Amino acid sequence: MKKTTVFVCQNCGFQTPRWLGQCPSCRSWGTLVEEVMVSKKLGKEKQRTATPFRLSELKPDVKIRTKTGFDELNRVLGGGIVKGSLILIGGDPGIGKSTMIMQVGSYLASKGETVLYVSAEESAEQLKLRAERLGFATDNFFVLPETELESILESTEKLNPSLLVIDSIQTIYKSILSSAPGSVGQVRECAADLLRLAKEKGVATFVIGHVTKFGAIAGPKTLEHMVDTVLYFEGERFQQYRILRTTKNRFGSTNEIGIFEMTEHGLVEVANPSQFFLAGRGEAISGSVVVSTLQGSRPVLVEVQALATPTFYSIPQRVCTGFDFRRLSMLLCIIERRGGIQTGNQDVFLNVVGGLRIEEPAADLAIVMAIASSIRNKPIAQDTVVVGEVGLGGEVRSVGQITNRIKEAARIGFRRLVMPNQKVDGKTKVIELLSCRSVKEALEFTIV
Ligand code: TYD
Ligand code: MG
Repeated sequence: MKKTTVFVCQNCGFQTPRWLGQCPSCRSWGTLVEEVMVSKKLGKEKQRTATPFRLSELKPDVKIRTKTGFDELNRVLGGGIVKGSLILIGGDPGIGKSTMIMQVGSYLASKGETVLYVSAEESAEQLKLRAERLGFATDNFFVLPETELESILESTEKLNPSLLVIDSIQTIYKSILSSAPGSVGQVRECAADLLRLAKEKGVATFVIGHVTKFGAIAGPKTLEHMVDTVLYFEGERFQQYRILRTTKNRFGSTNEIGIFEMTEHGLVEVANPSQFFLAGRGEAISGSVVVSTLQGSRPVLVEVQALATPTFYSIPQRVCTGFDFRRLSMLLCIIERRGGIQTGNQDVFLNVVGGLRIEEPAADLAIVMAIASSIRNKPIAQDTVVVGEVGLGGEVRSVGQITNRIKEAARIGFRRLVMPNQKVDGKTKVIELLSCRSVKEALEFTIV
């Protein structure tokens, strides 16, 4: 087999031996990416051995998932790290990616698994200092300060670890390619080789990647298609909490989130997110409503804050954080037409406290009530949680998992739940359920 490199147009597939700014075939600019070409010598065809088999004959490997030591991470991964899977973890620099993976590695090392941490960004001394400060088990934890992929692959095959960590994909390179580390061609070729290794040897691999300022993991989007799981670690740099999300998972759901806190002893998981998001809630003020929102499989209580003031401009301002802007415009119309509260002359600011993003329509009613409460300048009782989807007719529609939401509200100590008129099994006495059919009714219950 002979290996050469060619430049391939990502738009039309045109191939050329040297780099060109513009593709001569489809005339698009900057689309040529270097790839490795393997040309097999002509000769006797190798006997193919793969034969089809019945799915029923396949015995599932029962112990394929390994726990990571963080319940939050296990849940996001769908129950633990799957053997032979390739997991991409992205996030802004300094958010805590290396810290998290080192903590996972040290947990596995303490359980007797071999871990290989390829550090192309930090020196071995830096890693050692961090490991000592955080009190990591370091016996089965191997460190390899290397940037050349071929040598990384060789060391991995020799050591045969159960977990391989590449920190980061943008700093390693394949020597056959002439392009610089971090370029589209390098990132993709390196990832393809790591994927092959992970599948062939059954090594679970974490690949750390940086996020560009546009929010995508630097390098090609195709990287996300190649790996099994894509995790994003996000949060405000100057705040303590971090949220781990998954945008793709071949072995689990993608709606789960994991919440962590960065402390001086490394990352600590937040097991009780409702309490975490409601911490720091002050006295009852107008425009503040607690909503019960589903984050993956669990209900989380979050505070929604709205502030409305009469506008000084001809077009009122609308700013929202953590919620869909167009849905906000729709809800403002519903408040005006179905709730009888004028919104067209108000500047409206809406914020989901704690950096969470609410995607669920089940938060509609809470947002309507927060805005109405702010316009009327009347607070909503502090012991009230609100949930319900709002239709264009101003009707309040039913939501999923109502029983779980009620349980969570009762657990945190709330007394009332404003909710759609829907069936609930297993009522609790602790919490009063106020079911309402329309926005108007809900507003009458709480704001007069
Ligand atoms: P790091 O894991 O190096 O981030 P990334 O790999 O995503 O770039 O985390 C670096 C930040 O985390 C740094 O600002 C310091 C902070 N940190 C703590 O607050 N506590 C700790 O125990 C550790 C290890 C880091
Ligand atoms: Mg790092």
